[in-house]
Amino acid sequence: MSRIYFASDHAGFNLKTLLSQHVAKRQHIIFDMGAYTNESCDYPLFAHKLCEAFEYPADFGVLVCGTGIGMAMAANRHSGIRAALCATELHARLARAHNNANVLCLGARITGDELAIAITETFLATDFEGGRHQKRLDMINI
Ligand code: RB5
Repeated sequence: MSRIYFASDHAGFNLKTLLSQHVAKRQHIIFDMGAYTNESCDYPLFAHKLCEAFEYPADFGVLVCGTGIGMAMAANRHSGIRAALCATELHARLARAHNNANVLCLGARITGDELAIAITETFLATDFEGGRHQKRLDMINI
């Protein structure tokens, strides 16, 4: 059973709520780090809040804003966080299999609800392949 953290800004609030409710049915442990309304707010606050909550490598996060871009930028400032902006199921599968991404970023103004659910399911169901990909991940930090 995985611990999965969800967060969004106002633009991602509806999709974040939908996804967290969907994933909760799969017996994961869910944490909703806000935003809790669709009143205008600042996405970096929620990206940082989620990333600071990570306690061990088995955790996963899902960050949703309008495009997913700002969330990915903010999350990737945190050591140990590998955030991937995914707009297709292939992105999600390869982000896990090759990049060992532990935070999924989605754009609520880009990706429809049904596709976002499929992307999230793929992300959570795919394991990291390790091997040559681990060596490359080790080369990312400068
Ligand atoms: C908010 O309007 C929007 O800029 C934000 O949700 C996100 O798309 C930023 O990357």
